[in-house]
Amino acid sequence: MTTTMKSFLPLLTGALLFLGACNSQPTPPAAVSEEVTESKAEALAEHKLEAGQKIYEANCAGCHDAEVAGAPKPGDKAAWKDRIAQGVEVMTKKSIEGFAGKAGIMQPKGGNDMLTNEEVTNAVVFMVEKSK
Ligand code: HEC
Repeated sequence: MTTTMKSFLPLLTGALLFLGACNSQPTPPAAVSEEVTESKAEALAEHKLEAGQKIYEANCAGCHDAEVAGAPKPGDKAAWKDRIAQGVEVMTKKSIEGFAGKAGIMQPKGGNDMLTNEEVTNAVVFMVEKSK
């Protein structure tokens, strides 16, 4: 028993050393992958804005570009200031569920319930980004 342990120990130490060496290595690649993740997040945000713009143009511009029933036009900073102050989450929830405001009524998802919540969210973010 003891003999087996003794001959096994160096092997185990060797394996641990090997593992240790492996573990200490990933530091530089980790820094690189962090950079990659950051630009990936940026690209993703850009992609979402583009996706939001498409959703907006197809589903929301009909009212919002023409200011139908008091719908605030993206880019009209005065019309958006107080709305943006509520926070994007609140505006998104109202856009998904529909709401009645001082100016008029917005139907759930602007009347298109084929839209996913994510699509509506992207459109709201696009509108807000244009109106800041
Ligand atoms: C049928 C017309 C109509 C369509 C289509 C429409 N909206 Fe609206 N929307 C309105 C009106 C009217 C208001 C303003 C209501 C008020 O504040 O009195 C409004 C307000 C908003 C607001 C401001 C919410 C707030 O809290 O002040 C957001 C954001 C918004 N719409 C997003 C969208 C998005 C996203 C779409 C497309 C998916 C969309 N709307 C489509 C009529 C529309």
